Amino acid sequence: MEIPKDNFLWGAAISAHQTEGDNIHSDWWYFEQMGKIPKSGKACEHYKRFSEDFSLAREIGLNAMRVSIEWARIEPEEGVYDIAQIKHYSEVLIDLRIKGFRRFLTLHHFSLPLWAAKKGGFLNKSVVDSFVNFSGLVVKELGDEIDFLCTINEPEVHALLSYIRGVHPPFKKNPLVALRYLLKLVKVHNKVFTEVKRIKSDLPVGIVKNNVYYEPNQVSNFFDNFVCSVANFLGNDLLLYMVRKRSDFIGLNYYFTNTLRLSLKGIKVENKNVPKSDMGWRTYPPGLYFLLIKLKKFKLPIYITENGIADSEDNMRGRFITEHVESVMKAKKEGVDVRGYLYWSLLDNYEWHDGYGPRFGLIQVDYLTQERKMRESAKAYKQLIKSNG
Ligand code: BGC
Repeated sequence: MEIPKDNFLWGAAISAHQTEGDNIHSDWWYFEQMGKIPKSGKACEHYKRFSEDFSLAREIGLNAMRVSIEWARIEPEEGVYDIAQIKHYSEVLIDLRIKGFRRFLTLHHFSLPLWAAKKGGFLNKSVVDSFVNFSGLVVKELGDEIDFLCTINEPEVHALLSYIRGVHPPFKKNPLVALRYLLKLVKVHNKVFTEVKRIKSDLPVGIVKNNVYYEPNQVSNFFDNFVCSVANFLGNDLLLYMVRKRSDFIGLNYYFTNTLRLSLKGIKVENKNVPKSDMGWRTYPPGLYFLLIKLKKFKLPIYITENGIADSEDNMRGRFITEHVESVMKAKKEGVDVRGYLYWSLLDNYEWHDGYGPRFGLIQVDYLTQERKMRESAKAYKQLIKSNG
């Protein structure tokens, strides 16, 4: 379907497990209690403070929010749906509408109900079927309050961290299983798309894809260029080719660039003497422009569903946002159909296996008192929105 052209969207993104707190029926919670990963505990208490948080987002001048819905809350036991939780998310989405936001809702953002994880997650066909049913239920119950539905957040990152690096549940280190899992995620996306369209054909559906910009170490070196093309095809394009017929838009997440060198010793990442975030990621705003140009071939509207920096001192973030937005605007001028920019994240939050150390928020959160404080960079973002508005 064609998504009607709207005003440019300025937003921020969050996810349920990282902000809500007390996500007790999820696989993450289970392994957190076992001491395998840091405890998320109360997180930002966003579950009960959502309205206050969205008011702050409004103060920044945002007109779009990306949130996720927690499957583990809606279906805490296999086949048992908790209607009170559907009502909760309905309140969240209505609050956003009343405050003037366009709403992106993600169905799967890394976490699973514990029962589904115990059955092998999406490697198990019955879990895939349950997820498709859950997605259908969400659309039946909440579809009128969703503007954009995102099926799966960052399939490759999810597969990599859970099945190759083994730092996310279920902590496996098996590249072949990772590949199988990734192919299942493609299937899940395509099935959910079909199911959603059956119920509500006018609801835009897309996937959220993390792309890395690969730059050759030496611009004129054949081997460096070759390895970048391969990485770009496998890491950035391939999955999109597999879902493009069942996507109304592309949600693009961009965080960093890697400079690659191919030598007899193998592929080396050369990120020397360049600005890095608190995560050690190489920030490179022009990378977003180059990636957007490369995505033009898919002929689908693009929303930047995440772009952010861990910067506890807040001395890089303002410039980071400004320069990335410049890249977006440059690509837009050159004919890329990019329709929105959502910063990650609205709030400091639980950064998965890295716990509460990294600070990505436009709004600083004191995890002891739950006090929120607008960072200077949020004010810079506000100015930027005004001057582009
Ligand atoms: C994920 C977020 C995460 C962010 C920063 C993205 O990969 O979607 O959940 O917090 O990156 O690491």
